[in-house]
Amino acid sequence: MWLLRPRGEGWVIDGTVGMGGHAEAILERSDAEVRLLGLDVDSEALDRAAARLARFGDRVRLRRANFRDLGTVAAGDGVVAARAVLLDLGVSSYQLDESGRGFSFLVEEPLDMRLDPAAPQTAAALLNELPETELARIIFEYGDERHARRIARAIVRRRPLATTGDLVAAVRGAVPRAAWSRRRHVATRTFQAIRMAVNDERGALRQALREAPGLLAVAGRLGIIAFHSGEDRMVKQTFRTLAREGFAELEPSPVVPGDDEVRANPRARSAKLRVLERLP
Ligand SMILES: C[S@@+](CC[C@H](N)C(=O)[O-])C[C@H]1O[C@@H](n2cnc3c(N)ncnc32)[C@H](O)[C@@H]1O
Repeated sequence: MWLLRPRGEGWVIDGTVGMGGHAEAILERSDAEVRLLGLDVDSEALDRAAARLARFGDRVRLRRANFRDLGTVAAGDGVVAARAVLLDLGVSSYQLDESGRGFSFLVEEPLDMRLDPAAPQTAAALLNELPETELARIIFEYGDERHARRIARAIVRRRPLATTGDLVAAVRGAVPRAAWSRRRHVATRTFQAIRMAVNDERGALRQALREAPGLLAVAGRLGIIAFHSGEDRMVKQTFRTLAREGFAELEPSPVVPGDDEVRANPRARSAKLRVLERLP
């Protein structure tokens, strides 16, 4: 997070505060006058962030909110001219491993996949109700899965799906054995795609990309960590456009984790960080 280390006073907005790991690192490394507004749609994640960040006292404000509403939430807290805005997209390890909401193909759980437990549609509802062609589109577009059509057909045949095991079985039955990779579970891409659709992750990112640049102070920085090529493409294209409108991308290529970081946290292997700065 060396690219987001504000000096002096002002606000940092962490739009995906999660368990507060990045927020903690930013607060530890910045001056004591820097305050942080942390958002997350998951109230359990916010409870964990609150415990982790308690020692920073009133330097921290946490809000249960979607980062698609970044502008309104910031305005409600009187936050203008932020020193930095961070979005670390996707799910946290806690959500994958402990939430019991069916994000992982490795454990048998109900097919929920809502990041916001109050959101209207679960993964089971989406898998059981959408037309086959729409399922295939989602799995292809959000999962980059070339067997999307066969998987969509297998899902429709297996309906009603209730658990992660049902979805894994549908994918296993649909993808030819010869195409299974040794490095990646056969259902990885499908799980990612369904999760992205359940939470409208693309839509939220599109909206945040519209709102976040306008919240930055001069020399303020917007950092976005994407794990999916489609999301990184959206960020890259938006940053290129903004480069003609008073902003500059800090590095010509995205920052990726080093070998040590990937060894310590294999889930970081596909992460790409891009940082945009507001020019005077
Ligand atoms: C990769 S984790 C962030 C981890 C965090 N940086 C940390 O250090 O603990 C992503 C977090 O963003 C949240 N999230 C995903 N989409 C969101 C959205 N549209 N609005 C707000 N929070 C969101 C998830 O609930 C999850 O807690």
